[in-house]
Amino acid sequence: MEALAVFGGGSPCVSSSLLCSPTKRTCCSSCTQKPILSTSHHQNLSAFPSKSHLFSYVPSRPHAKTLRNSTKPLIFLPHLIASLEQVDETYIMVKPDGVQRGLVGEIISRFEKKGFKLTGLKLFQCPTELAEEHYKDLKEKSFFPKLIDYITSGPVVCMAWEGVGVVASARKLIGSTNPLQAEPGTIRGDLSVQTGRNVVHGSDSPENGRREIGLWFKQGEICQWTPAQAPWLRE
Ligand code: RTP
Ligand code: MG
Repeated sequence: MEALAVFGGGSPCVSSSLLCSPTKRTCCSSCTQKPILSTSHHQNLSAFPSKSHLFSYVPSRPHAKTLRNSTKPLIFLPHLIASLEQVDETYIMVKPDGVQRGLVGEIISRFEKKGFKLTGLKLFQCPTELAEEHYKDLKEKSFFPKLIDYITSGPVVCMAWEGVGVVASARKLIGSTNPLQAEPGTIRGDLSVQTGRNVVHGSDSPENGRREIGLWFKQGEICQWTPAQAPWLRE
């Protein structure tokens, strides 16, 4: 959950960057009030209705600048907090064995069915330098040369996915690194048998999610859109 900040002391008008332009300090086109709530992540989820009816905070000190500075306890409705949870991005990649074995559709389908949003997708032959940069944290490992050979041995399918908790959830959908230890129902548990051929990659932290998407996708290859099903996935 991100920190919430108060801007100015006008009458309450709920705004998060999920709903309004991150570049404007005004709330939205239909509202002239300054926002009192903001999250730092810039996502367009404009299909969601305004959350103003969920907000229970009425400023008792009109000149309060931040919630942290306020001396009076502030009460938030839990469902409002849930609605402002951090939207993350993760980099998912079908490795060359997954492509060769015809598992691309199956793997994409697991993330689609879960309800995450696909924002980037391409088939790509990975150059050695990119594979080395992507897995740079494993450079000292004995299996590093084999890993680079594996990742560059054929085309991969690069994907960017977005959603609340998507990084951790994707790791659960993918399963343990060693497919023999991966639970049935996970991608690796269902579709692979060896660590060196474990069919799919998933970022291990939100920071690495952003880093890897920046590494594998050029500007203009990430598409921001609002799925029609959005209101049916999150209240
Ligand atoms: P990934 O980064 O590909 O999603 O995999 P991971 O987080 O589950 O595991 P990680 O430790 O990051 O390892 C990256 C990939 O290296 C290969 N590996 N081989 N032979 C070995 O002992 C060994 N250990 C790891 C796997 O392909 C692993 O997914
Ligand atoms: Mg990893």
